[in-house]
Amino acid sequence: MEQKISEVAGSFKAELNNVKDETGLEAIRIKYFSRNGLFSKLFEDFKNLPKDQKPKYGKLLNKTKAEAQKEFDLLKNKINSRKKQSQKFVDLSLPGRKKTVGSQHLISQTIKKISSVFKGLGFSVYTGPEIESDENNFEALNFPPDHPARDMQDTFFINDNFLLRTHTSPVQIRLMRETNPPIRAIIPGKVYRNEAISAKSYCLFHQIEGLYVDTNVTFAELKSTLVYFAKNIYGNDVKYRFRSSFFPFTEPSAEVDVWWQPPGKEGKWLEILGCGMVDPNVLQNVGIDPEKYTGYAFGMGVERIAMLKYGLSDIRILFDNDKRFLTQF
Ligand code: PHE
Repeated sequence: MEQKISEVAGSFKAELNNVKDETGLEAIRIKYFSRNGLFSKLFEDFKNLPKDQKPKYGKLLNKTKAEAQKEFDLLKNKINSRKKQSQKFVDLSLPGRKKTVGSQHLISQTIKKISSVFKGLGFSVYTGPEIESDENNFEALNFPPDHPARDMQDTFFINDNFLLRTHTSPVQIRLMRETNPPIRAIIPGKVYRNEAISAKSYCLFHQIEGLYVDTNVTFAELKSTLVYFAKNIYGNDVKYRFRSSFFPFTEPSAEVDVWWQPPGKEGKWLEILGCGMVDPNVLQNVGIDPEKYTGYAFGMGVERIAMLKYGLSDIRILFDNDKRFLTQF
């Protein structure tokens, strides 16, 4: 019996020494400690011993098994903690994770830049709602209900009385109704037009409206303000022209074109804004005395101005959210 016990103990020790992982450990547990394992077998043999030998071998067997169990548990703990360690392991040779800082969209940057030019001239910044009344968007701006000028803008109507504003000019009405002259404001914001989407036009774009109402405001002031603006955005040698035009809410009216010269291609005039002296009818509509006050207004397309400044040929790139494009600015 003694021989058998020491054989099992010996082989157990030898095998345990070779165990490296959980699978090896499990194999040992089954071979030695399970119900049909080698230690159980020794206990079976022990049952058949003559009574007088039982105390001696009983003690030895219990002690041997307890020691084996202890060694087994020790190794098990070691393997477990090694596993936990490796889960915590940080590979310091890996490249770091880069935290990219976002930047302002080109449209926002352009609005900021244009605004800062006008702020320097004493203009305040105002905004208005994108859902407007027909009254503010058309009627008060001197578009009579069936005036053909309404066809100039294809409109997203919400119902008979409300629509997505087609320009920022309705905010002129809001401002003039709410405040008394002198008024000197710029109004940036989104506008909507129900147009076919192409390289040149999108259903949504941004405008910056300008309004100056006071006594003795002249067209000469309007002109010099806009020339100052164009030079600030495109540089002192910018080539521009004022071309007479028509808007229901200004009289006289003009459009400003800037010469666009892409490298290696033919240059052309591009319209960047509409402007004019506030029509006396509009002043009347908002309760400002047209005999006492005059004013000028202008409205520019932000996308147009950005496209010209940065040489973009397709407006849609400003709405695609393509990081390859956006990260360049
Ligand atoms: N609201 C006009 C447009 O969207 C632009 C404009 C504004 C013209 C102010 C004159 C004065 O086309």
